[in-house]
Amino acid sequence: MDTELQMTYGCIMQAVCVEDVFGDLKGDKEKVNRTAKKIYYRLSMVVHPDKNVDDKEMANEAFVRLSEFYERAQKKIQQGTYGQRIENKNDKGIGFVIKTRKQEYVISSTLAEGDLSVVYGGNCVGSDDFAGQIAVKIFGDVVDNRLAQNEIKVLELLQSEPSNQNKHLPVLLDKFKTTNGQLGTILRQIDGCDIYSIREKYKDGVDGKHMVWMLNRLLSVLGYVHSKGIIHGNIEPGHFMIRPKDHNGWLIDWCYAAVNPARSGDRFKVYNEDFSAPEVKEQKSPIPASDLYSVGKLMIYVLGGDVKTNTMPSTVEDKLQRFIKFFVRESPIQRAQDAWEMHAQLSELIIELWGPKKFLELKI
Ligand SMILES: Nc1ncnc2c1ncn2[C@@H]1O[C@H](COP(=O)(O)OP(=O)(O)OP(=O)(O)O)[C@@H](O)[C@H]1O
Ligand SMILES: [Mg+2]
Repeated sequence: MDTELQMTYGCIMQAVCVEDVFGDLKGDKEKVNRTAKKIYYRLSMVVHPDKNVDDKEMANEAFVRLSEFYERAQKKIQQGTYGQRIENKNDKGIGFVIKTRKQEYVISSTLAEGDLSVVYGGNCVGSDDFAGQIAVKIFGDVVDNRLAQNEIKVLELLQSEPSNQNKHLPVLLDKFKTTNGQLGTILRQIDGCDIYSIREKYKDGVDGKHMVWMLNRLLSVLGYVHSKGIIHGNIEPGHFMIRPKDHNGWLIDWCYAAVNPARSGDRFKVYNEDFSAPEVKEQKSPIPASDLYSVGKLMIYVLGGDVKTNTMPSTVEDKLQRFIKFFVRESPIQRAQDAWEMHAQLSELIIELWGPKKFLELKI
């Protein structure tokens, strides 16, 4: 595992403007240019996809973003505006402004309205457009602040350690409290869509060949998260976002997660009739298998199956159906237990069913 790549990825994902990447550059234009170039070369050595064969996806994401930052930095240096925040056209917004010690943010749209919170779209004031898109989540009632606090705690915990699974987790940029005392989080906006919107587009579900890459991403992020003693506790279609063009996937909404439940006594915080395991209703202690149950249900939903009966379209290969049904067994001890183990088994199954992996784009 390359920690340098993971740390650099983390820094690049936290940056909202060129100055966050290249720092406070002093001197005349020539000197500033030379320093920026040096920093760019040093960072690109770390994140170049050719140098990171074990994690090309993470490297590629960081490299593309870094190159974009460098191009913009060069432009600002030439124009003599390096060090000044850009006034971008969205800075005025249409709604309200949030000011924290770190940044100023403008809300410009509503992305989603949940039961307890609203997720708004916006941008960081003075950011480079492409890097400053944010999703702001605000809980409607102060009594739910504990859920926001829980999401902040879990994301900070997961982000504090470099990992190549961070590419499947939301990036927490900032937090704030409204004048009414409601807690809010500022997340980097994910340029993907959740599984509800995928099913709106694919009314009969997606092909098994697409379902498997989504499952692969979910199992790998859960393998990591479970190894940290964290159970997501609320995996459902609104909480998995995908980006079809490069098959990335993000597991979001960590409000309901349980941290080290066996030791801390942390419990399930919500029950979803279609996607939660039976032990959630029974208020048993959260275990990794509870998340895997929800993953199985989610995959049945992705395929256009019936989550109540666990039936899947007849076009889905028998072996794949059997594999998924192992996730949704009612008894927790009889079902899939270990995300990494299932991840490995899935890779073998894919090859057995369709031969060597090939990239297949899902059109949306
Ligand atoms: N970082 C993000 N980038 C883009 N869209 C997001 C992001 N986070 C959330 N969304 C969108 O908002 C929806 C709701 O997000 P989330 O589940 O985190 O909040 P919520 O459902 O409103 O909260 P709760 O479930 O606690 O009531 C997601 O399904 C997704 O469509
Ligand atoms: Mg939610």
